[in-house]
Amino acid sequence: MKKIIIFIGGPGSGKGTQAKRIVEKYGYGHLSTGDLLRKMENDQHLSPAKQEALVQMRAGNLVPDWLIFELAFDEILRQVKQGKGIVLDGAIRNVKQAEGYQEFFKRENLLNEVIVIEIKLSDEEALHRVHKRKVCGACGEIFPNSTTSEIPPVCTKCGGELMVRVDDSLAILKHRLATQGEVANGPIRDFYKQIGILEAVDGSQTVPVVENEIEKILQAR
Ligand code: AP5
Ligand code: MG
Repeated sequence: MKKIIIFIGGPGSGKGTQAKRIVEKYGYGHLSTGDLLRKMENDQHLSPAKQEALVQMRAGNLVPDWLIFELAFDEILRQVKQGKGIVLDGAIRNVKQAEGYQEFFKRENLLNEVIVIEIKLSDEEALHRVHKRKVCGACGEIFPNSTTSEIPPVCTKCGGELMVRVDDSLAILKHRLATQGEVANGPIRDFYKQIGILEAVDGSQTVPVVENEIEKILQAR
């Protein structure tokens, strides 16, 4: 199985949900740039440039590429040097970033270890899924907005407090989907298609079915 698994797809397509499953099954590291940025909110000593990046994140905009590379590259090397794989969840949001990662993988002799899986979901369905979703502030567990099950009062995994992400408010979510959703993913998809490392799954299916399709892709490559 490839050591570097990259999930691309719009907000709410299920990147975090599927990344966590691979991490649990295979002991891979999990690099969610969104989670890392949210953790930075607790740091009292951030540089002005990083503080400004967090303002942009809260508003549903992308943060600068340099910050993403700073968060990602060391962590990828740390996992790989321990002989482990890593799942990149939302860590690539534009073609400049995709190019930057490829250069990094080339430098580190990791190009043959990379697979990219796009989780395809319409912006409309993503909006429905993410709106009112809650996440655990402590461990990041995701609790879906579902008609069939109630969201529990606290995290069922660690007892942590559940919260709605600031950027999941309806207005900001719509902005994220317009700027990071189906349309924005087109050029990233084309970039990876051209170098022959892109696979795709239909994210509108149930979580276990999507998981099963991802599993088949990972075993075949
Ligand atoms: P990030 O935290 O990565 O947010 P996102 O990409 O908007 O994606 P989400 O976390 O909202 O969705 P997801 O695809 O993980 O889906 P989930 O599994 O939760 O990024 C936040 C912000 O950080 C960005 O806006 C940006 O500002 C900044 N940022 C991060 N990376 C960056 C980068 N590289 N460059 C620049 N800026 C960056 O699933 C969604 C819901 O659906 C859940 O409730 C889940 O339970 C449910 N669900 C999942 N799968 C299914 C299914 N198959 N059926 C039914 N329900 C499902
Ligand atoms: Mg996520």
